[in-house]
Amino acid sequence: MAQKKCRVAVLISGSGTNLQALIDAAAGNDSGYELCAVISNKADAYGLTRARDAGIPVSVVNHRDYADRESFDRTLIESIDGYGAELVVLAGFMRILTPEFVRHYRGRLLNIHPSLLPKYQGLHTHQRALEAGDTEHGVTVHFVTEELDGGPSILQAVIPVEPGDTAESLARRVQVQEHIIYPLAVRWFAEGRLRMAGDHSELDGEPLPATGKLIRS
Ligand code: GAR
Repeated sequence: MAQKKCRVAVLISGSGTNLQALIDAAAGNDSGYELCAVISNKADAYGLTRARDAGIPVSVVNHRDYADRESFDRTLIESIDGYGAELVVLAGFMRILTPEFVRHYRGRLLNIHPSLLPKYQGLHTHQRALEAGDTEHGVTVHFVTEELDGGPSILQAVIPVEPGDTAESLARRVQVQEHIIYPLAVRWFAEGRLRMAGDHSELDGEPLPATGKLIRS
């Protein structure tokens, strides 16, 4: 009998290329997870079209319809839990979540951020790496805690910064890596190999380093 798959809800705000990578990887027989819902705070997010094309249930919870973050997040929780999600994956979801939301999904809430955290939390990460003269840049998948763009790292993909790179060229090369490491982290979680253990992540019962597992290209 087929193993029960881990139910994953994906939260998006935009184009959803990471969502697409997760959809494509889930289609493999041995992915261990299924996407049970895609939820967006923006009705015109292209990621919703990707989800509908893949036959995944979608919901829009527009933050502008709520008086404050707390009531918006409570509706999000109701929606996510209504789908029976076991793991919540933030994939370009551009809202700051309340401590209540983060605590509710403690240890089962993942985010991808386009920098080598703890460097460059927040926005404009590619431009900031260029301006700092960094020779390496990259992307991090991490468990979400109450610290913005913080929480135990799971995977980091590192790319070299080449002469002549722009924020756009870096963003393109970082996204290629995003689409590799996010499905991998979700798969590890779905297989029961990955967990948050206090201030670090554990893979197969072994602590991962502060950077998470490093992948260099
Ligand atoms: C991704 O590059 C992701 O790293 C970034 O948003 C983009 C979404 O792209 N996330 C953050 O900046 C979170 N702080 P996508 O919609 O094509 O997946």
